[in-house]
Amino acid sequence: MKVAIVKERRLHETRVAASAETVKKMIALGFEVIVEKGAGLASAIRDEDYKTAGAHLAKDFAACVQKADIVLKVQRPLSKEEGGIDEIAALPEGSTLIAMLSPHTAPEQFKDYAARKINALSLELAPRITRAQAMDVLSSQSNLAGYRAVIEASALFGRVFPMMMTAAGTVPPARALILGAGVAGLQAIATARRLGAIVSAFDVRAAAREQVESLGASFISVESEEAGEGTGGYAKEMSIDYQKRQAEKIHETVKKNDVIVTTALIPGKPAPRLITEPMIRDMKEGSVIIDMAVEAGGNVEGSELGKVIEKHGVKICGYGNLSSRIARDASALYARNMLNFLTLLWDNEQKKLHINLEDEIIKATAITQGGKIIHPQFDGK
Ligand code: NAI
Repeated sequence: MKVAIVKERRLHETRVAASAETVKKMIALGFEVIVEKGAGLASAIRDEDYKTAGAHLAKDFAACVQKADIVLKVQRPLSKEEGGIDEIAALPEGSTLIAMLSPHTAPEQFKDYAARKINALSLELAPRITRAQAMDVLSSQSNLAGYRAVIEASALFGRVFPMMMTAAGTVPPARALILGAGVAGLQAIATARRLGAIVSAFDVRAAAREQVESLGASFISVESEEAGEGTGGYAKEMSIDYQKRQAEKIHETVKKNDVIVTTALIPGKPAPRLITEPMIRDMKEGSVIIDMAVEAGGNVEGSELGKVIEKHGVKICGYGNLSSRIARDASALYARNMLNFLTLLWDNEQKKLHINLEDEIIKATAITQGGKIIHPQFDGK
C-alpha cells in the first residue's frame, strides 16, 4: 500500500499532512510512503527528514500520486476551474483521499471525486466522541488557532496584557472578551489569561459556562430560556429575539473591553454576526478585534479576509487559516490525527485498507465510494 504526501498549493497554506515521525510510524505499519519534494518546507520539515524516516521522494505532484493507493492532504485538492495544477484529475482512479475536504463550503467538489472513482474521506465530519478525539482535526487545529489569535491580537495592540507596576507608574491590565467558547475560544481564553489579561467570554451553549469559569474567566450570559445546543454538541442558530438580546448584551460589554476574539460558528450556516458597526463605533480607541470566523462570513461587520483594517480607531483582523501561521505545531498535530485515522482504516492482519462503514467514525467521514456520493448529508449535491 502506497501512501502519498503532497505539497499543499492553496494560498497561505503552510501545513503538511505527515511529519517525519508519522512517516516512520506508517512504514512500521506496513505502508510505503512517497513524499513530494518540498512538501514539508513551510512547516520546517526538510526532504532529508522524510528520507531519513524512510520515505521516497517524488519530484512533483503527478509523480507523487501516480501509483498511490492513499493520498493524505491538509486541504481539498485543486480542481481544473481553480487554475494551477488539476490535482483531482491527477489522483489515480480507485485511490483513497483523506483530508479536510470542506464539506460545508465546497460540497460541489464531491461529484468530481465520485466521477474519478476516488474514495474520499473528510476528517472534519468525524463525530465529537471520545474514541474520535485522537483523529479530531477540528480540535487540534482550532486549539492552535485560538492561541495564535491572541498572539496576533497582542501584536496589534498598542498596550501590554498584564498589569505592570513599574517605577514609571502602573499599567492597568488589558480586558479581553472571547465570543464563542468552543475549542478555539477556550484556548484563546487560556492564552489571554496566561498573558495576564482580565478575560470574559460568551457562548450560546450553557455547558460552556463551567469550562469558561474553570479557566478563570467570567461568563457573560443572556437571559433566555432558549437552549443554544444543536445536534452533535454544536451550536444552533438562535431565534431573532435571542439575537436581539445578545446584541444588546454584547454592545454593552464591548465598550469595556480592549481586545475581542470572535470564534462563533454554526456548522453548515454562515457565521452569526455578533459585532456590528455601531458596536465598533462605541469601542475604545486602539482596541483590537480578531475575527476568527472570517472565512465563514465573519462574526464582525466589515472584517476582510487576510487583512487588518481600521474602523473608528479599532483594528479588525481577518486573517484566515490561523493554524497555518503556526505551521510546525499545526502540521505535527494534524499528521498525528491522520496517522490515527489511517490506523483505524488499516486491517493489520490482511495488510490492506478496509473502509468499514459499520464503524461510526468512518461512516461519518466517508463521502464517496465506488463512483458514488454515499454520505447522506451530501447525496444529490
Ligand atoms: P465551533 O467551531 O462549531 O463553534 C465555536 C463556538 O461558537 C461554539 O462553542 C459555539 O457554541 C459558539 N457559537 C455558535 N453560535 C454562537 C453565537 N451566536 N454566539 C456565541 N457563540 C456561538 O465549535 P467547536 O469548537 O468545534 O466545538 C463544538 C462542540 O464540540 C462543543 O460542544 C465542544 O465542547 C465539542 N467538542 C467535543 C469533543 C469531544 O471529543 N467530546 C472534542 C472537541 C469539541
